[in-house]
Amino acid sequence: MTREALTITDERNGATYEIPIEGAAIRATDLQRIKAAPTDHGLVSYDPALANTATCKSAIGFVDGAAGILRYRGYPIQELAEHSTFLETAYLIVKGELPDQAHLATWTRNVMTHSMVHENIKKFMEGFRYDAHPMGVLVSTVGALSTFYPDARDVQDLESRRLQTRRLIGKMPTLAAYAYRKSLGLPYVYPDNDLGYTGNLLSMLFRMTELRYEPNPVLEHALDVLFILHAEHEQNCSTNAVRCVASAHADPYSAVAAGIAALYGPRHGGANEEALRMLEEIGSVDRIPAFLATCKSGERRLAGFGHRIYKNYDPRAQLIKKLALQVFEVTGKNPLIDLALELERIALDDDYFVSRKLYPNLDFYSGLIYQAIGLPPTMFPVLFAIARTAGWLAHWAEFIRDPEQRIVRPRQLYVGEGARSYTPLAARPEPTAREDAVSATI
Ligand code: CMC
Repeated sequence: MTREALTITDERNGATYEIPIEGAAIRATDLQRIKAAPTDHGLVSYDPALANTATCKSAIGFVDGAAGILRYRGYPIQELAEHSTFLETAYLIVKGELPDQAHLATWTRNVMTHSMVHENIKKFMEGFRYDAHPMGVLVSTVGALSTFYPDARDVQDLESRRLQTRRLIGKMPTLAAYAYRKSLGLPYVYPDNDLGYTGNLLSMLFRMTELRYEPNPVLEHALDVLFILHAEHEQNCSTNAVRCVASAHADPYSAVAAGIAALYGPRHGGANEEALRMLEEIGSVDRIPAFLATCKSGERRLAGFGHRIYKNYDPRAQLIKKLALQVFEVTGKNPLIDLALELERIALDDDYFVSRKLYPNLDFYSGLIYQAIGLPPTMFPVLFAIARTAGWLAHWAEFIRDPEQRIVRPRQLYVGEGARSYTPLAARPEPTAREDAVSATI
């Protein structure tokens, strides 16, 4: 009978070790047994970008990058995008099962009940400069919610966890819309809970003097589908940030603020903003080859292309491309779509991108829809963050419930100076020599 184990021989001393295999993994702590001498600390695994390290067992999202598969709680993303709504999908992600009609109605009511934010949040927002990036505003206001809801610190309390989850999913559109209105100097629009989740968001973003804002059903639906596609993506930079903060048992608002901060970066959720700016910079089809040459030389990256896990087409990008065409029937065609399609065609015909398996990801086309709806690029990652809050909170709760999890405390390989004695100020080297050493560190 085959044994689920790995036998390792340490060539330094001839010792052999049997390491159990669980699922498709070995436990990194088992490597600690491998020592060159009885007094050393044992081997660690070195994985600077967590490229091949599972940090948890999770039942929320599933990605098979080679096959281009994405599922939430087992359901294929294509089926959810076609048949579900964002709030139903958020229920699925957070609770593990699709709701029946009664549960969906209760969940919708419970989430929408929390759409208002404390009036002091508006005062808080006044502190930002007129041109503050709305992602910076969102990081801060979501973090600030922890001061309004001190009960959220009791992370072990199931009822409290449920309440904070509904509360934050309910408030994200309001915080996002306030950040947008503030950037335009427009008055804030209070939530209208008779509208759906994304219809209410459109109202809070765009309502002017009309008594009642009637969202365009095609745009409301498109936003809903985009939110479904962005709601969860298993372990990535921002989800890992949320889990890491959760491991210290910080409240969920602080944990999600960390997730938003990670998402802000241009390599992650900020790529949708970058992709749109890139298309505007390229400007015309004849300039594509020269632009791609700068990506191939390593001078810059093709925004919205490439993924750590998808080495085939990102299934979300395929769905978004189709959705864009539906939206343009209402809004008129975004002229950048032709440029984007041509850029994709040329890149996927180029050995640089093909050999590295670099395909469009969800950020490549999503900005074209957001722009057609009437939003500026700075708001694109904000919309991503609203949707991903469902996934982040599901991971936060899963982490808290997991008895195997402890505070995250990674290891490092120390490569700095060995022990040395303090040098008195007067005896330190000449400024130029010191400055060279210091400037190499930051
Ligand atoms: N343009 C040009 N070259 C690229 C790109 C790109 N967008 N992405 C990767 N490469 C090259 C990279 O230079 C490297 O080449 P070489 O082997 O010659 O050194 C090779 O492809 C592998 O790249 P990597 O940096 O090791 O890949 P990674 O898995 O660490 O990075 C990524 C993944 C998404 C950060 C990266 O592809 C990237 O920066 N893409 C652009 C930003 C982007 O679209 N981000 C959104 C990701 S999906 C949604 C989300 O997470 O929010």
